[in-house]
Amino acid sequence: MSYIAVKGTHDIYGDEADGYSYIQNVFRAIAELYGYRGIETPILEYTNLFERSTGESSDVVRKEMYTFLDKGERSVTLRPEGTAGVVRSIIEHKLYATSDLPLKVYYTGPVFRYERPQLGRYRQFLQAGVECVGEDSPYLDAECICLAMQTFSMLGFKNLKLKVNTLGDAETRKKYRDALQEFFASKIDDMCDDCKQRLKLNPMRILDCKVPEDQERVKDAPKMKDYLSPEAEERFYKTLSIINDMGIEYEIDDNLVRGLDYYGHIVFEVHALSDAGKDYGALAGGGHYDGMLSTLGGPSEYDSGVGFGLGVERLYSMMKDNGLLNDVAHKLDIYLMPIGESVLDECYELLENIRLIGYSAIMPFKTAKLGSMFKKAERSGAKFALIIGDEELEKGVAQLKNLATKQQKEVHLATLDEELDAAFAEIEEHEEGCDCPQCQEKNEQKAE
Ligand code: HAM
Repeated sequence: MSYIAVKGTHDIYGDEADGYSYIQNVFRAIAELYGYRGIETPILEYTNLFERSTGESSDVVRKEMYTFLDKGERSVTLRPEGTAGVVRSIIEHKLYATSDLPLKVYYTGPVFRYERPQLGRYRQFLQAGVECVGEDSPYLDAECICLAMQTFSMLGFKNLKLKVNTLGDAETRKKYRDALQEFFASKIDDMCDDCKQRLKLNPMRILDCKVPEDQERVKDAPKMKDYLSPEAEERFYKTLSIINDMGIEYEIDDNLVRGLDYYGHIVFEVHALSDAGKDYGALAGGGHYDGMLSTLGGPSEYDSGVGFGLGVERLYSMMKDNGLLNDVAHKLDIYLMPIGESVLDECYELLENIRLIGYSAIMPFKTAKLGSMFKKAERSGAKFALIIGDEELEKGVAQLKNLATKQQKEVHLATLDEELDAAFAEIEEHEEGCDCPQCQEKNEQKAE
């Protein structure tokens, strides 16, 4: 009997784990620049939270939730997205009453959807997202889009496609749904079973159908923009003018309706093709929502929100394909090499001291031949080997070898912190002044 990961889930280790940490760290740093603070909500929530907020007409709630009865016979669900839990938490702790508004929070964590696993589509995946709740302004909607685009730009993405649309206000959506129902009434018998359901529950979702024959039928469907109330139209173009002034390019996509029920006004998705031409799906998606707080029992005066979520797996795959992660894998600073059993204790003490100075370091705890230790040091990616035998210990020195240039010099253990600082500074200086292709590439990346 062998044990494997559950279908649609995956283990994250090695370079991939480093890449995921890097993406999340960049995302957190940018969110904090925009005044967001961290929030962590449970992965497990009562099922009715998602039914009520994420939406009974969404595929996510209807077909993709991991829902089960716990031992107390309560229906619970592994969260299929982050927004509902955050809004539940804001209401439960009355955060709207105790904090300045808008409330701006960011999160990263696993979410679960029972979808067909394929390229860029998992059943457990990692989302990073933000929610800005409690105040209504096109500037906040625009700021959220800027935050998303800044994150991508800091991660080195180019050639992104930002798709936007508006789902208008409640009045707009009512009129538009009626128009779609009328338009599809004569066509629906020939359309897929999902669309038949969508026509009853939420006809806007038909626009999102991926079945090629249905996509053809959708082409002539009425457009939301022709049903916008004057207020909704003004709001949409105000938001677009703000992001335009920030130098962000966008494309209006009339069929962008998003897969979750809570949106109104602007919605957006970020797409990109990898250099290898692979399409991993939307890298991020989000938009404005009204009515979530009051729907979940909170006060209606703080009902407005805006946010987005990005898929860390998709970003990672795309970045790997496009060579944006070359310098991200965790690099060890020092591989300490004890020559012989007799120096193990002293080397162990030194190892701890090196870490306290702030350099990452490992050493083998079993003695080995120098050649085999060098091979391991190179495989570890360490920048330096620090070699110590009886003779060195006696003299209070060690041999410091740069594993890239193979240059070696004697350093004094009493002043090791200064010697290491100088050696690492030399590497930096070398990279800056060097015109070899590797150093040039690193310099270009730093400059960007
Ligand atoms: P979403 O568009 O459903 O939005 O998901 C956000 C992102 O999660 C997607 O753009 C995609 O990158 C990633 N993603 C979705 N499904 C999968 C999957 N099966 N495998 C891998 N990655 C996936 C939301 O979840 C909203 N809560 C976003 C939001 C926040 N809207 C307002 N606030």
